Amino acid sequence: MDIPLSYIKPIYPPRIITHDHPEDEDPSIQETLENLHLQPHPEGGYFVETDRDPHHVLNPFRSRTPNAEVGSDATRPASTTIFYFLTPHAPLGAFHRNRARTIHTWHRGRGRYVVIHADEASNNPKEDLGRAKAPIGSFVVGPDVARGERMQWVVEGGKYKSSFLLPDAPIDDAEDGTDRGSRGLLIAEVVVPGFESADHDFLRREQMDQLLTSDQTRELNWMLKS
Ligand code: GUN
Repeated sequence: MDIPLSYIKPIYPPRIITHDHPEDEDPSIQETLENLHLQPHPEGGYFVETDRDPHHVLNPFRSRTPNAEVGSDATRPASTTIFYFLTPHAPLGAFHRNRARTIHTWHRGRGRYVVIHADEASNNPKEDLGRAKAPIGSFVVGPDVARGERMQWVVEGGKYKSSFLLPDAPIDDAEDGTDRGSRGLLIAEVVVPGFESADHDFLRREQMDQLLTSDQTRELNWMLKS
């Protein structure tokens, strides 16, 4: 069940949970960074690669680059696995795309994902300029499955994905609405076949303009890599 994009308005922008003072941050966040050996990720947030399968498979994406030389690019690890962590000081994972599919598993915290289905974009040149060309989906990840939150989610290759941190307490449950605290969103990601930077790119503003309406771009451009 996808929660409609308009639902992001009450919790937007995310600075409401971005703490200005490091001392506001829960000490468990620093402990998690240290205990898991997490490093800053170029997308935002933190990560560590915990597994890279020594077994390799044929690179299924090579046919998309027909002139590529046969060499190290001929194969990919069968899978790679990372921890990924968003925190109040690093609350945004900027829009990016992988050729490979990614299987995500929730560990702790809460966040919102926004997915632009660029691989399903309409090529119809007669389409109204005011209408979106690529479908968008959005959903909350967290422990409350009964409310539609997800503990597992798959993003297929070719789609732009971004994520941002939400408070640990569901918004309607926070007493008088002031409990906006978060100890971070911790997840695992398994990329199949395994992650290679050649299969990864960031969404640029010009592509966003082509894929979305101007209203959608206005609402989502803060999620582009700055
Ligand atoms: N190196 C840089 N980014 C990533 C990533 O997202 N996954 C893996 N496995 N390695 C990376």
